Amino acid sequence: MSRITITINGKAETREVEDRTLLVQFIREHVGLTGTHVGCDTTQCGACTIHLDGEAVKSCTVLAAAADGCEVTTIEGLADGPKLHPVQQAFHEHHGLQCGYCTPGMIMASVDMIRRHDGVLDEQTVRHELEGNICRCTGYHNIVKAVLDAAEKHRAAHAVAAE
Ligand code: FES
Ligand code: FES
Repeated sequence: MSRITITINGKAETREVEDRTLLVQFIREHVGLTGTHVGCDTTQCGACTIHLDGEAVKSCTVLAAAADGCEVTTIEGLADGPKLHPVQQAFHEHHGLQCGYCTPGMIMASVDMIRRHDGVLDEQTVRHELEGNICRCTGYHNIVKAVLDAAEKHRAAHAVAAE
């Protein structure tokens, strides 16, 4: 057992965990934030994607103890109170989900993708970047539309901010 502290969505969470505890188990079972989903636990589906120190990672591939002292953002930490994050809003407007199981991971991966590319994205790049996130419902078309729209808005917002 180890005593670890991980800051999740701005709140320090300290727990005693077994050494084999995965980060996704820490988030869901120890802290109770169940918006991060488990679709496979073998690094294939991306449903468990969160941000670890600002970068998207599959939280079923990280031991909780390895994230001791780190900052994590989950889907619950994206919105600004009642105001959705722009990527959440874009998924909503473009119907980028059906059952919603993949959606938290899709959105966390997309937020990181838009940040890394400064919002400069084309369809091919979005599809390539989302290869690690599997959706069994949507056929991906509306997800890609949502990411491209959010990327465009990100670019526009940063252009205005830079003026
Ligand atoms: S649950 Fe982590 S990649 Fe599927
Ligand atoms: S919306 Fe159902 S798995 Fe993607």
